[in-house]
This record gives sequence, C-alpha cells and structure tokens, in this order.
Amino acid sequence: MSFEQAASLPMAGATALQGLRDRGHIQSGRKVLINGASGGVGHFAVQMAKSFGAEVTGVSSTKNLQLVQSLGADRVIDYTMDNPVHRTERYDLVLDVVGNLSLRNL
Ligand SMILES: NC(=O)c1ccc[n+]([C@@H]2O[C@H](COP(=O)([O-])OP(=O)(O)OC[C@H]3O[C@@H](n4cnc5c(N)ncnc54)[C@H](OP(=O)(O)O)[C@@H]3O)[C@@H](O)[C@H]2O)c1
Repeated sequence: MSFEQAASLPMAGATALQGLRDRGHIQSGRKVLINGASGGVGHFAVQMAKSFGAEVTGVSSTKNLQLVQSLGADRVIDYTMDNPVHRTERYDLVLDVVGNLSLRNL
C-alpha cells in the first residue's frame, strides 16, 4: 500500500466508525441499513457493522451490488430499481451516507 492510499483511510474509516459506534450505538444482532454502501465511507461501514455482529443491508447501484455483498452485507438493495423507504423491512440503525432518505419513513 502506498503512503497516499494509507493516508486516505483514516478519514472515511473514522467517519464510518463514529456513525456506527459512537452515534449509532451499534450492537450485535441489530438490523443496520447502510445507504451508500459501495462508497468511501459506506464500504468501511459495511465491514465494520459486520464485525460488530450486525445484520447488514447495503444500498448501492446495480454495478456495485456484488462488491457490497463481497464486503459482507447480508442483503443488498439496488437504488436504481428499489427504494429502501418503500420496503416493509425496519431497521434498528440507519447510516445514511448519501443523505437522501426520508428517515421518518424508515
Ligand atoms: N470519504 C470520506 O472520508 C468522508 C468523510 C466524511 C464525510 N464524507 C461525506 O460522506 C458523503 C459520502 O462520501 P463518500 O466518500 O462515501 O462518497 P462516494 O465514495 O462517492 O460514495 C457515494 C455512495 O453513494 C451511493 N449513491 C449515489 N447515489 C445514490 C442514491 N441516489 N441512493 C443511494 N445511494 C447512492 C453510491 O453508490 P454507487 O457508487 O453504487 O452509485 C456510493 O455507494 C459525502 O457527503 C462526503 O462529503 C466523506
């Protein structure tokens, strides 16, 4: 890994950790939705949430669904085909990295 690559990790990684652990109080067995799961913050968040023992659903576009699954997500939602807000699932914690979800409806 180059110095440049290494230097890019703490910001996105710390953001994911703060959201899940410090603000979200994530716990094992909780159902977690990560919107933007294939992105800089989200791809860390998926892996961290799994390491905390959560049940993880990740939202990304079609081309990145496989990536999100490979990071450990239990379920994936393609935002080009589906809207998490319109589904019946409910979550204990939502990390909305994109910021486009209506949390009132989740
Ligand atoms: N990266 C950091 O270090 C950092 C730190 C603090 C705050 N932030 C902030 O966090 C936000 C995201 O940053 P990022 O670096 O994670 O961005 P990013 O790498 O560009 O990732 C964006 C994510 O959003 C998804 N996405 C795009 N449009 C969407 C939609 N309509 N519905 C659901 N998902 C959608 C993308 O999925 P596809 O790629 O599959 O389309 C991708 O997973 C930005 O506001 C940024 O300023 C970032």
